[in-house]
Amino acid sequence: MSPKDQIRYNHASYTKVKFTMRKPLVAGNWKMNGSLKDVGALAESLKKGLAHQSQVEVAVFPSFIHIPQVEQILTGSPIVWGAQDLYIGQSGAFTGEVSGSMLADLGCTYVLVGHSERRQVFHEDLGLISAKFKAAQNANIRPILCVGETLEERENGKTEEIIKEQLNSVIEASGIEAFKSAVVAYEPVWAIGTGKTASPEQAQEVHAFIRWLFAKQSVDVGNSLRILYGGSVKADNAQGLFAKPDIDGGLVGGASLDAAGFLAIVKAALQKTE
Ligand code: 13P
Repeated sequence: MSPKDQIRYNHASYTKVKFTMRKPLVAGNWKMNGSLKDVGALAESLKKGLAHQSQVEVAVFPSFIHIPQVEQILTGSPIVWGAQDLYIGQSGAFTGEVSGSMLADLGCTYVLVGHSERRQVFHEDLGLISAKFKAAQNANIRPILCVGETLEERENGKTEEIIKEQLNSVIEASGIEAFKSAVVAYEPVWAIGTGKTASPEQAQEVHAFIRWLFAKQSVDVGNSLRILYGGSVKADNAQGLFAKPDIDGGLVGGASLDAAGFLAIVKAALQKTE
């Protein structure tokens, strides 16, 4: 039995223990985009398009300075918002940074932690990412921990090793139970902003591996953890990805800046619940 078969075998053996219905989550990471006018119009369109509670949770992630405006527009809407980053300190002399308690004060629900752009462009290491995950939980904000391999790592057969390392450093620092209120996003670096999406089969394989990693330590966490796929998710590929059993929604970059496209992705996630 090759190591890969073993993973599938283990994965299959734990899913039999219990079946948990996970509410899909579709998250729009707006990154460093938009003016007050654009972002306001986008939030208004989403609010109009998603007026009612649905079987799919929807979250948007504006830049820090757009948060108060988006928060105001989304009042009374089922759409929640999150932040793209946070700092580990609570307050004090950290010029330019924003703390978890500041975000919580505004009603923040989620925060992205460990996005590959933070890891690569801003050189965030495993220690800082683990500390940010902890800081989010201390502020009662749900972290969305992003993990993923580069193209070179995938081509060298290192995908599972890299993801395991990225997840284990956070599990070791915060404990497995911390993932009861967290979300994991698998975002292969080679698929982000490149138009090259992982195939549903490629993504499912890694999602199953991630779930197995958690289930090994806690069947409950393994079953209930939402694992999102991110990397060139679009209206026309979302349905195929979301149809896979271990893909619980998406973390969408570019396509989340267009209201109609993003709403179509939410609709694709809705089909998972039917
Ligand atoms: P794209 O959807 O633009 O590839 O971005 C994905 C991403 O990084 C979401 O966090």
